[in-house]
Amino acid sequence: MRQQVVLITGATAGIGRDAALRLARAGHRVFATGRKKEALQELQAAAAGLPLETLVLDVNDGATIDAAKTELDYQTNGYGIDVLINNAGYGQIGPVLGVSDERVRAQYETNVFGLLSVTRAFTPAMMSRGAGRIINISSVGGRISSPFMGVYTSTKFALESLSDAMRVELAPFGVKVIVVEPGYIRTNFTGTALDSLGAASVGTPWEAMAGRVDSVLARFEATASEPEAVTRVLERIIASSSPRARYIAPWWNVFGLAVLWVPTRLADQLIRMAMGLNVAAHPQTSAT
Ligand SMILES: NC(=O)c1ccc[n+]([C@@H]2O[C@H](COP(=O)([O-])OP(=O)(O)OC[C@H]3O[C@@H](n4cnc5c(N)ncnc54)[C@H](OP(=O)(O)O)[C@@H]3O)[C@@H](O)[C@H]2O)c1
Repeated sequence: MRQQVVLITGATAGIGRDAALRLARAGHRVFATGRKKEALQELQAAAAGLPLETLVLDVNDGATIDAAKTELDYQTNGYGIDVLINNAGYGQIGPVLGVSDERVRAQYETNVFGLLSVTRAFTPAMMSRGAGRIINISSVGGRISSPFMGVYTSTKFALESLSDAMRVELAPFGVKVIVVEPGYIRTNFTGTALDSLGAASVGTPWEAMAGRVDSVLARFEATASEPEAVTRVLERIIASSSPRARYIAPWWNVFGLAVLWVPTRLADQLIRMAMGLNVAAHPQTSAT
């Protein structure tokens, strides 16, 4: 397979960093982007000898997107990219009504609007060439909402919807849109997401429930996969002549989607049991 020019957002940590290094090791020309200069320098050093270049790109900052595009066009003699991996994003944990409007908006700015801005900047060149791939990193949480993750998962639901529409809109131009849905992956994601829990729950009616989140996360942590599990899927997508619309990474997280096939009342009950939330928070209210 010919070397692909790949741009990855959020490549300074976790899944993005792993993907940047492994795709470069596989021989692809990787533009690894991120918003922290020091982390980019560290990545550049780790990639010594590999076809990997770093660029500053904060998905919420249009000026950095424009500058990265100008530099990339220069570096590729106006060619642009073959593959855009929209990976930058973060989670936040807290009951939906406890998360401030400001934090909800910030979550959408990065996970949805930022992704769209980057996609708008880099897709036209692929459309003109009649070939290209946009890989959007969603989540299993883009298919199933769960308590204390509702704000985050809603951004991934939005991403799934936008991807479904773009897949059809861009197909006539030869650009394929693919969604990757990771399960629980061991990265900085949980630590970042937990930063918001206190502000969203302390002093709210959900404070006691929030106290159980740590033990739930510890259980999930035991089943976590390494970022490589997602990178392997990305490699398959790039190598495939006809990639599917959706990939779950790793594949066995498909079993988590079984909850979509049972009646909602039962699904809610299962989720409550799994998360230890099967209690009445109000003395007059039955939890069932
Ligand atoms: N880990 C999981 O269990 C899991 C599961 C499902 C989906 N995902 C998705 O996978 C993607 C990668 O997350 P991860 O698990 O690798 O988490 P991570 O280790 O926290 O990495 C997230 C990356 O996104 C970057 N980022 C955040 N905001 C950005 C912005 N405004 N502009 C540019 N880069 C930005 C971070 O950079 P900074 O260091 O500068 O913040 C970091 O490089 C996310 O979209 C996440 O929703 C993760």
